[in-house]
Amino acid sequence: MKKMLLTAMITASLMVPGLALADGAKLFKTKGCTACHGADGSKKSGAIPKIKGQSAEQIAKDLTNYKNGIKKGPMSGLMMNKKIKSLTDEEITAIAGFLGGK
Ligand code: HEC
Repeated sequence: MKKMLLTAMITASLMVPGLALADGAKLFKTKGCTACHGADGSKKSGAIPKIKGQSAEQIAKDLTNYKNGIKKGPMSGLMMNKKIKSLTDEEITAIAGFLGGK
């Protein structure tokens, strides 16, 4: 059920790309993601995976799983994870839309 809701939200955000893109880009910066992932998520170094280019659905799933503690990695132990936990579903969708956008 949750997954369906998430998919519906992603679909909705893709239908209004202008809105989602603007918010996602801004959030990616203001939430501090750019410090590790680079301006658009395309930076890859050490343990940091390249997230730009992954599908919006995959990114939203990863972020939701970090938030719920289902997905664990080095990032879960870093203080930045607190920011992920504070992301709302809407913010996750917006960021995923930005990173997954073409
Ligand atoms: C302190 C550095 C750091 C910050 C800040 C950070 N990340 Fe990450 N991120 C990582 C590392 C390292 C990984 C991979 C290891 C892991 O799973 O913990 C990762 C993994 C991810 C993944 C999963 C990619 C994959 O292929 O599994 C996503 C999506 C992601 N980050 C998005 C974000 C977003 C959105 C933010 C801002 C809210 C953010 N990150 C902030 C370091 C960071």
